[in-house]
Amino acid sequence: MALINPGSTLTLSLGERSYPIHIGPGLLSRGELIARDLAQPKAVIITNTVVAPLYLDTLRCGLEKQKVAADAIVLQDGEKHKNWLTLNQVFDELLELRAERKTTLIALGGGVIGDLAGFAAAIFQRGTPFIQIPTTLLAQVDSSVGGKTAINHPLGKNMIGTFYQPRAVLADTDTLRTLPDRELSAGIAEVIKYGLIGDLEFFDWLESNMDKLIARDSEVLTYAIERSCRNKAAIVARDEREEGVRALLNFGHTFGHAIESGLGYGQWLHGEAVAAGMVIATHVSRQMGLVSAEAAERTVSLLRRARLPVQGPPLGLDRYLDLMGHDKKVEGGKIRYVLLKNIGEAFISSAVPPDVLAKVLTGEGVGAA
Ligand code: NAD
Ligand code: GLY
Repeated sequence: MALINPGSTLTLSLGERSYPIHIGPGLLSRGELIARDLAQPKAVIITNTVVAPLYLDTLRCGLEKQKVAADAIVLQDGEKHKNWLTLNQVFDELLELRAERKTTLIALGGGVIGDLAGFAAAIFQRGTPFIQIPTTLLAQVDSSVGGKTAINHPLGKNMIGTFYQPRAVLADTDTLRTLPDRELSAGIAEVIKYGLIGDLEFFDWLESNMDKLIARDSEVLTYAIERSCRNKAAIVARDEREEGVRALLNFGHTFGHAIESGLGYGQWLHGEAVAAGMVIATHVSRQMGLVSAEAAERTVSLLRRARLPVQGPPLGLDRYLDLMGHDKKVEGGKIRYVLLKNIGEAFISSAVPPDVLAKVLTGEGVGAA
């Protein structure tokens, strides 16, 4: 019987550390895609209390068929647990399970699990192999690809972490069926980001297909994941450690991270904060005369159609500036902003006039399109 959608495999090219990104349905049970990357037939799956009842058994069964013994560590769910305490729980359990340096850690979950498990893998016994199995749209299009790992600090989002690449990424599109609508939209924020920063054709396609994407049309969803991963893999291959072009992937994130930590982790979803952050960055670009009113309107309109917030919360100018000062993109005390020249054309600048920032962050830009 022919498969309707057999999926595809992209490669993130990083020399000897290159790895496959498998995208398609039914991948969770394809233990052979994982077994071939293992240094020993032993793995520890790191997941959470929401994802484990949905997908842990399927993954484990597929691995058992390949004679891989897989233990599991099941963490509490949520961004507010992406911290030292949870990381330490992972190390306690890994040691109790007698995990070794060649035991592969498998992240099964959204970006919170992926970032935290990746960081654990990077520093447990000075580095153990690691595989990403992202189960949210956001994780499939962004966080599982590219090797950024981190936990949060109360003073700043993702402040403690490393670059540490996985050996493989398996994005099983079937897992998105159980994703809540709000989480789907949050993932679409990062999808739209790729169009805005460097892929006008994709942005046009998203304008034509947003209703189908929201309705989870499987062809449209799979194409959006593939194109997003292709965009991300190309950027990371050029600039793994964010010394240049990779910083564009942070479009909207300086403001978004301020929103997330300012409101308390988990109040707004990461993708929601990024959506509002991208609107704020677009308003700043507009106020500086960089981007046209039409392009700004198209940006806001597409985010709105994705059911995402298009204004930030009124944290107050001083609070925004204080929170943004803790961003990782601060260099020599100066914030490096990602701004928009046009749809598909973003760039980095530290030269945002304070009066423009003040205007945008105190209502006009935060509040209106
Ligand atoms: P998340 O990991 O909190 O997942 C969202 C929610 O969906 C959680 O409750 C989760 O348990 C649940 N869930 C996961 N898969 C599910 C499924 N298939 N069905 C039903 N529920 C499911 O959030 P996220 O949006 O996936 O990731 C956000 C995190 O990713 C943030 O911490 C952000 O900083 C990080 N991030 C990292 C990078 C990177 O490059 N490393 C990039 C973007 C975002
Ligand atoms: N999500 C931003 C990056 O991976 O660089």
